[in-house]
Amino acid sequence: MTELTQSQTWNELKAHTKDLPHMRVLFEQDKLRFDTMSTSACGLFLDYSKNRANQETLSLLFKLAEETKLASKIKAMFDGDVINTTEKRAVLHTALRAKPEQKIILDGINIVEEVQQTQAKMATFVTAITSGSWKGYTGKSITDIVSIGIGGSFLGPKIVSQALRPYWNKDLNCHFVGNVDGTSITEKLKPLDAETTLFIMSSKSFSTQETLTNTLSAKDWFISNGASQADIAQHFVAVTTNVAKATEFGIDADNIFPMWDWVGGRYSLWSAIGLPIALMIGMDNFRELLDGAHEMDKHFANTPLSENMPVIMGLFSLLYGNFHNAQSHVVLTYDHYLRGLPAYFQQLDMESNGKSVTLDGTRVDFSTGPVIWGGEGTNGQHAYHQLLHQGTALIPADFIMPLKSHNPLGEHHIQLASNCFGQTQALMQGRSYEEALVELEGCDLSIDEKSTIAKHKEMQGNKPSNTILMDKLTPGTLGSLIALYEHRTFVQGAIWDINSFDQWGVELGKSLGNDVLTRLGAEKDASELDCSSNGLINMFRQQSI
Ligand code: F6P
Repeated sequence: MTELTQSQTWNELKAHTKDLPHMRVLFEQDKLRFDTMSTSACGLFLDYSKNRANQETLSLLFKLAEETKLASKIKAMFDGDVINTTEKRAVLHTALRAKPEQKIILDGINIVEEVQQTQAKMATFVTAITSGSWKGYTGKSITDIVSIGIGGSFLGPKIVSQALRPYWNKDLNCHFVGNVDGTSITEKLKPLDAETTLFIMSSKSFSTQETLTNTLSAKDWFISNGASQADIAQHFVAVTTNVAKATEFGIDADNIFPMWDWVGGRYSLWSAIGLPIALMIGMDNFRELLDGAHEMDKHFANTPLSENMPVIMGLFSLLYGNFHNAQSHVVLTYDHYLRGLPAYFQQLDMESNGKSVTLDGTRVDFSTGPVIWGGEGTNGQHAYHQLLHQGTALIPADFIMPLKSHNPLGEHHIQLASNCFGQTQALMQGRSYEEALVELEGCDLSIDEKSTIAKHKEMQGNKPSNTILMDKLTPGTLGSLIALYEHRTFVQGAIWDINSFDQWGVELGKSLGNDVLTRLGAEKDASELDCSSNGLINMFRQQSI
């Protein structure tokens, strides 16, 4: 048994959550619930009143956070302690958005200075591309950026660029290639012109199979479209910690943007991995994105736990996973530009908190990270929301919406907002059997039929949700929002005492994939593997060509 589940507070929470009335009752009992259970920070407003909680629940949750030393764990991260213990690394993505005058010393070096130098290099590069002074091999300016990377080196730049489309440079377009499936790069390159295309190879390690393979294919495409080996310098840049390997691969040393071991892949969009974003929205807007995240860092580091937005959100997620048996958590964005965020938060949270042992290696006796999924409102309302309302699984939801649209078209935004708020209301209050019967009054049905249909129309409600609003989707509010989720993920990992910063499951997949590769190529026999793997490998060998 872990210390956590034996603690008095944990067990008090267990008992307390069983006795809590339906949220409808909580709202009736406390007319000020919206005022007392909402908070603002860094351009974001959080309404957490539609949660299964009263003041006692909150007190117990904050007590749990205090007892598990959350505040000192937050400090340890910001101070650069080696909190990624299995990889013996500090976790300092917060340094990437620190102010230039800040000092963060790691191994005797002020890493803020290094970050600033890299940002200056990015700024010079962005100006060269966007001003048109950087020319392709035939003297034309760059019109298309192809970013090649996977995992954190793919999703962050892709989703943030997509979200900030209103800020795009009109003369540039960007494309993202992640998957090693040849279809991905083939389709992306089809409409492009080698003379005006710039490739950014993003790989922290510079050893990820998908990225190396896609870059080689990009090089082949480039050369086969009329360029020469010498032209590569004007068309290929790299972002990596492994400068030596990138140079060996053929990338010009001047075109390599450094990053550092203390930045985890899924936390790296704030580094030069964000170069595609900076190219598309300009360096000033990229800095605004960093500033938004920095504001959230300050809020997280300095605000008392009970008013701390990431702490509140992290504790609620923990409450449902550990005390209400919720296995998943849905993120619903009511803004088309934010449609990719659920996938981004999925990687962030599931790669971080999908763990089964505590820091000292003890197997956990509680649920850790939930399945994160989601999509775009209102589309989901006509599909999977059915399960949210009437399914047997409890799925807490986050609704995210800007108050002002970038495209204020007729009645669209007011309708979007009505759907967003209407959903949170419906999830919370549900519809009782009696209410369903009243709705059926006047229908041409027998009493028995009405009773049966009312049972189908009944919704228990009491389904929790957070609503996050912002004035408008800007680089700054987006930066704050993403940092909010980063820290929310941290909060849960810290209370569970797990390592949120390694990813051994993912690494296993990588090494087994490499082993199978040698067997598929017939260099190695597969007969000593399990019969399923052997059978599949043989089938591929015989039939793939
Ligand atoms: O998929 C696992 C992972 O290690 C991620 O954490 C990382 O973002 C991704 O692979 C890509 O790694 P790299 O940037 O080293 O190519």
